[in-house]
Amino acid sequence: MNIPQDGRQYAPATQRNREPILAVLARVLKAHGNILEIASGTGEHAVFFAAHLKNSQWLPSDPNPLCRRSIQAWRANFPYNNLYPPINIDAREKVWKIEPNIPIHSIVNINMIHIAPWTAFLGLLAGANSILPAGGGILYLYGPYKQGENTAYSNLAFDQSLRRQNPDWGVRELDLVVEEAKIAGFQLREIVPMPANNLSLLFQL
Ligand SMILES: C[S@@+](CC[C@H](N)C(=O)[O-])C[C@H]1O[C@@H](n2cnc3c(N)ncnc32)[C@H](O)[C@@H]1O
Repeated sequence: MNIPQDGRQYAPATQRNREPILAVLARVLKAHGNILEIASGTGEHAVFFAAHLKNSQWLPSDPNPLCRRSIQAWRANFPYNNLYPPINIDAREKVWKIEPNIPIHSIVNINMIHIAPWTAFLGLLAGANSILPAGGGILYLYGPYKQGENTAYSNLAFDQSLRRQNPDWGVRELDLVVEEAKIAGFQLREIVPMPANNLSLLFQL
């Protein structure tokens, strides 16, 4: 990622996936809801989604201070009044400190669980369970998945390159993700095939 003077970072994949993701979010997320994004990265998604989901409030977060600086810099360039400043949340933390202290209706997590240890996914489920409203809270995941023998070749290759970088990373098996989410209280509502062999997973508490 390039880091210009004002701290804004650029992840080219966000330009390619933001429109298809927006189409799903606009359909499945509650209008007028407060959306917490876990692992916002550069912040490019946050400004794009806040611009298009005008009836929602978007709260970005990331544990990496350089990412939070980037999100803040993007926000300074696009100061939408439905986009909050980024907060520091590591999904593995037992208690997520939400600032401002607003009710969260949905959680969005894009391209994290394969580039983080499995414990980050378990933490995401536990944290989401603790802050989302029972009987309606939405957890949205986007990324590549393994699907047994039907796994796309590009995802197998990606899995191997991730594991070479860090043995705790790797493209996750869809069945295990769904099973673990179920144990944490989330029902799988929908799987939406996305471009480039990615999936959108929609869970409900
Ligand atoms: C590949 S980037 C994706 C960023 C952004 N969602 C996107 O699609 O461009 C992975 C992000 O996950 C974040 N991350 C890694 N481990 C995390 C954790 N335990 N809790 C929350 N975020 C984490 C990283 O800081 C990074 O911003």
